[in-house]
Amino acid sequence: MRFDDVDFRAECSSVSRRGECVNINRNKWDAQTYDEVSRLVQYRWGQQVLEWRKWDGNERVMDAGCGSGLLTELLAQKVPRGRVYAVDGDSNMIKQTRRNLKDLANVELVQSDITNVKLPIDLDVIFSNAALHWVHDHAQVFQHFWNMLNCDGDMRGQLLIQCGGYGNLRRVDALIRRVMKLNEFNIYFTKMNRPWYFAKPNDTTRLLNEIGYIGTNVSLHNDCVSLANRKIYARFVKTVIMKPFLERLPDDKTRNRFLELFLHEVEKRSNNSMGPQSTWSLDYVRLNIIADKP
Ligand SMILES: C[S@@+](CC[C@H](N)C(=O)[O-])C[C@H]1O[C@@H](n2cnc3c(N)ncnc32)[C@H](O)[C@@H]1O
Repeated sequence: MRFDDVDFRAECSSVSRRGECVNINRNKWDAQTYDEVSRLVQYRWGQQVLEWRKWDGNERVMDAGCGSGLLTELLAQKVPRGRVYAVDGDSNMIKQTRRNLKDLANVELVQSDITNVKLPIDLDVIFSNAALHWVHDHAQVFQHFWNMLNCDGDMRGQLLIQCGGYGNLRRVDALIRRVMKLNEFNIYFTKMNRPWYFAKPNDTTRLLNEIGYIGTNVSLHNDCVSLANRKIYARFVKTVIMKPFLERLPDDKTRNRFLELFLHEVEKRSNNSMGPQSTWSLDYVRLNIIADKP
């Protein structure tokens, strides 16, 4: 495959040959591509999470890490007499959400870090899909969510959250790390911490109970996703999973080569006898979190 069609429009920062981070805060999501590729995966997950609750229709809700707003739109439909605060730290995602949701009167967009966002009202529900594994300090974020939830209304405050959980993308991560260790790339990753935190259910349950949440229901499930072919897989992986790795590389040529070598690893280690869909798979594990504030 040629990578002429792989587009690195996002403002990429890089890591210098001495291993220093350069403009690391300028890394933004390619929100337009995310909006397309997430319909295959994250959108489906989020739709399931929305069905966990019997909605009254007047809840005040935060979509924490709303991305391009596809699920925010469904949330807004669940609460026609309520309000949705769509919060994301990434300005490209907020712009894309604005484009997607321009006709919705009960949605407000907020560009902020979800770990310390301030909203004008208390919330009945905090919904979050495929975002919380980007936050390393879960004690802090669950305490902040507790502070944001309603405690004196008729409705109990509730968390409805799904994110990557323990064991998520183990196979894919191992293959990325093989490529990172190659001589031509390792210099760029010397000071890189793990980009994600994939929590164990017991740790999350303990954390939530210590804060004071009740009715906690935390579980893991496997959700291996198979994509149709190499091209679709490359586009998805480049935009979603590889983002924190590719943004450390200095230019498109290096990023394309990194991606190409990763895809080569995927092909080399797959069980071809099961067809292309098994080759182009992602070993996702989801952490499901429901908890109430009494
Ligand atoms: C994989 S996307 C998921 C987007 C959307 N919830 C969905 O399911 O399609 C993760 C999103 O979380 C956002 N995010 C991650 N950490 C964040 C933080 N600490 N504060 C605000 N947004 C954050 C990212 O900017 C990104 O838009």
